[in-house]
Amino acid sequence: DWTPASFIETTVAQLKEKIGDDKVVLGLSGGVDSTVAGVLLNKAIGDKLTCIFVDNGLLRKNEFEAVLDSYKGMGLNVIGVNSKDRFYKDLAGITDPEQKRKIIGRDFIEVFDEEAHKIQDVKWLGQGTIYPDVIESVSVNGPSATIKSHHNVGGLPEKMNLKVVEPLNLLFKDEVRRVGKALGIKDELLGRHPFPGPGLGIRILSDITPEKVRILQEADYIFINGLKEWGLYDDVWQAGVMLLPVQSVGVMGDERTYENVVALRAVMSTDGMTADWVHLPYEFLAKMSNEIINKVRGINRVVYDISSKPPATIEWE
Ligand code: XMP
Repeated sequence: DWTPASFIETTVAQLKEKIGDDKVVLGLSGGVDSTVAGVLLNKAIGDKLTCIFVDNGLLRKNEFEAVLDSYKGMGLNVIGVNSKDRFYKDLAGITDPEQKRKIIGRDFIEVFDEEAHKIQDVKWLGQGTIYPDVIESVSVNGPSATIKSHHNVGGLPEKMNLKVVEPLNLLFKDEVRRVGKALGIKDELLGRHPFPGPGLGIRILSDITPEKVRILQEADYIFINGLKEWGLYDDVWQAGVMLLPVQSVGVMGDERTYENVVALRAVMSTDGMTADWVHLPYEFLAKMSNEIINKVRGINRVVYDISSKPPATIEWE
């Protein structure tokens, strides 16, 4: 019978056996999978594991600092790398979504590789790959998988010439969560919504600038905190805000304004392959709209996305 406790026991033993005294490097993202993989590896090999967490400048507001703190609290040996400027510079003027994904994926690999090379004698690359990722990458050349290139960091092991260790590659998401819980990882972290690797970069529907990122972070912060405060966060599979490349006319006092529109998105799903938009209460949407327009300079209109997948995707890019 599969239980989290027995999985942890056998996996830790296997990892010790496989890795021995070698050093392992692992990229953390703040998400459930990489976190559980990190804690599991840490349990097996302790400080022989070095984790790297890259700030690509496209994370949620305060995310980098908060997540880095909680990783340190879990006893992980983690290096936080602030690479915002590098990403912003390389993304300047880029509007095509696939081009953005390529640049973000490539920069991540380069930054990660540079940091990993500062550690002597690393032999292994740890990854939080789970079973559905394995299946999905089998069909990567199929027509559906090429709609968007999700596997942004697929080139990492080849580039680094490391052996790969993926302790979660036979688990489904709910099993990963149960293992995480048994490892003592906080519910707050285990219950987090999925967040795409390219982050807010694919929620800014035009070229990316630090100012647009700031505006989107503020709006996203209000929406996500609102969901939590209203007890709606756990009823939603994923939520976020899109900054549209559209300006519209508004009024503020007796002034005419001509500013940006954001779209709120909240979906229910099991695996992200199909999704339904969530019927959030009107009172909640009204409150979010008011707060965002009043508090976020640069936004004067909020709309709610009522499209399901298919045919609409969850992200707008
Ligand atoms: P879509 O927009 O295709 O999203 O309906 C399905 C799920 O995948 C996430 N997503 C990505 N994740 N890199 C990622 O790591 C990406 O390029 C990417 N694009 C979409 C999306 O957030 C949703 O959970």
